[in-house]
Amino acid sequence: MNNIEKSVKQHCGKILSVGLICVDVVSVAKQYPKEGGDSRLLGTHWQKGGNAANTSAVLSMLGNKVDFFGAIPIPKKSDFHGQICVGFIKDKMESYKVGMDNVVERAGDALPFSTVLNNSENGSRTILHYRKGLEELKYDDFAKIDISQYSWIHFEGRNITEVLKMVERVVLYNSDDRHETITISVELEKPRRANSIELLTHADLAVVSQDFAEFNGMSSAVEAVQYYMGSCKTGAAVVCAWGAAGAASGVVGSSKPIEMTPAFPPKCVVDTLGAGDTFLAGLVHSRSRGHHLSAAVEFACRLAGCKVGFYGYEALR
Ligand code: ADP
Ligand code: FRU
Repeated sequence: MNNIEKSVKQHCGKILSVGLICVDVVSVAKQYPKEGGDSRLLGTHWQKGGNAANTSAVLSMLGNKVDFFGAIPIPKKSDFHGQICVGFIKDKMESYKVGMDNVVERAGDALPFSTVLNNSENGSRTILHYRKGLEELKYDDFAKIDISQYSWIHFEGRNITEVLKMVERVVLYNSDDRHETITISVELEKPRRANSIELLTHADLAVVSQDFAEFNGMSSAVEAVQYYMGSCKTGAAVVCAWGAAGAASGVVGSSKPIEMTPAFPPKCVVDTLGAGDTFLAGLVHSRSRGHHLSAAVEFACRLAGCKVGFYGYEALR
């Protein structure tokens, strides 16, 4: 019995999602603009962003009990913009019923935010991310959390040295037979983060993005799964999402060949921002209920396919 089957048998408990939260300022353009041009937008809105925050919100919408763990600033009284941003994401997370009790609040720093250009012709998103002054999560922050309340902990692959220590804490916890096993998932999305691969070693579910795989020389999802399986433990599920092509998946040590699951495109693709975060939520949701990997990947592709047909995440409620 692998960790996933064990934890489902014992309790379909709470999930913790560890990583980034930010504000996404989304501008919807008729088409991708020319540099130096002057054109009107079709619309503009704010939404909560960040991989781990998006994933936790979708997991909650799917009916899971979920907490988010990340860093947010306590803006100075004089920082009007900061006050608004922090108030906005707190309200949003509350509306999605995501637990925020573990969140680390640090005085004076600015909340990260992304300026996102959405091309309404094809739903593509171009992200310009801004981060300055807000210290990343540290192992010491994570050490304060009572992890026994969780059956699954998901880690976004950032600030790798500290996150690796967090993962190792869960591995140590799991090695004590008196504890119920916590399933570990890891997502590697951003290509340029050194030593990211080390995070895969302990994952029960490893998810690698197309960006990450392509940056490292892979030219297909199947090739990426094959390659990253080499860094994962026996029994780990390895998944690589590849945009409109769907996703590939396989289990380390299994005789079953790596499988390619197609995408499920809606009639019209309008917004691909957060498609990967939604896909991941679908995967964790389905796997945490003990579903086979291929069924979980199909569910995740269907969920993400539904999401890209709408702006934001509200249609998934
Ligand atoms: P990211 O947001 O990390 O770039 P991807 O673009 O790889 O993520 O998308 C994740 C999943 O979302 C894909 O595996 C697919 O199932 C779904 N998806 C993304 N883009 C489309 C699309 N244009 N049509 C249908 N499904 C899509
Ligand atoms: C989407 C996303 C956005 C955020 C950006 C950060 O996957 O989480 O919400 O602005 O990525 O890189």
